[in-house]
Amino acid sequence: MNKENITDFSKLLATFPCFPTVLVTCDENIITLALIHIFSFNPPLIGIGIAPKRYSYGLINKKKEFVVNMPTKNLLSQTNLCGTKSGRDTDKFKETGLTKETSKIVKSVAIKECPVNLECKVVKEIETGDHTWFIGEVVNGKIADDFKLEDTVLYWKGLYRSPGDVIKQR
Ligand SMILES: Cc1cc2nc3c(=O)[nH]c(=O)nc-3n(C[C@H](O)[C@H](O)[C@H](O)COP(=O)(O)O)c2cc1C
Repeated sequence: MNKENITDFSKLLATFPCFPTVLVTCDENIITLALIHIFSFNPPLIGIGIAPKRYSYGLINKKKEFVVNMPTKNLLSQTNLCGTKSGRDTDKFKETGLTKETSKIVKSVAIKECPVNLECKVVKEIETGDHTWFIGEVVNGKIADDFKLEDTVLYWKGLYRSPGDVIKQR
């Protein structure tokens, strides 16, 4: 195997195999995100990376809360719309036809059509290069009884994908 040094670091970052795709709501706006990670299981902490220029950045910075909604393959056009239009000039609930669902603990609405909803309160903010990571503690969550991991959406190199094959059973 021959390897060469690469100075275009974006090419190196593009080798990461995949990112989960989620719809994050804050107040009544929706943003599509692929920068999301579990930061701790106990307590349950989820981090979301948002560029400061996003409308959602200002909302989350002010409200200190957000809801992570898990879209499924059948919500792909809505997911793409929420990742290409801004809440500054678009009512994304109206435009996508998605339904607002009242959350139990936070004030921000959840998305009814998403089978998983995680209500989070911001406990930490980490400013990194071109994104700020908001770390949220999960304070309430819902999961549909017919939820299937196989139906979730991944995003990788500009393409939406499904989770791949199981390659070995433990
Ligand atoms: C699949 C996908 C993933 C995205 N992931 C992120 C992300 O992790 N962080 C981010 O700041 N923007 C991300 N974006 C871009 C925002 O979703 C997009 O700029 C959106 O229109 C911002 O909405 P807002 O202005 O209402 O906040 C992503 C877009 C797509 C389509």
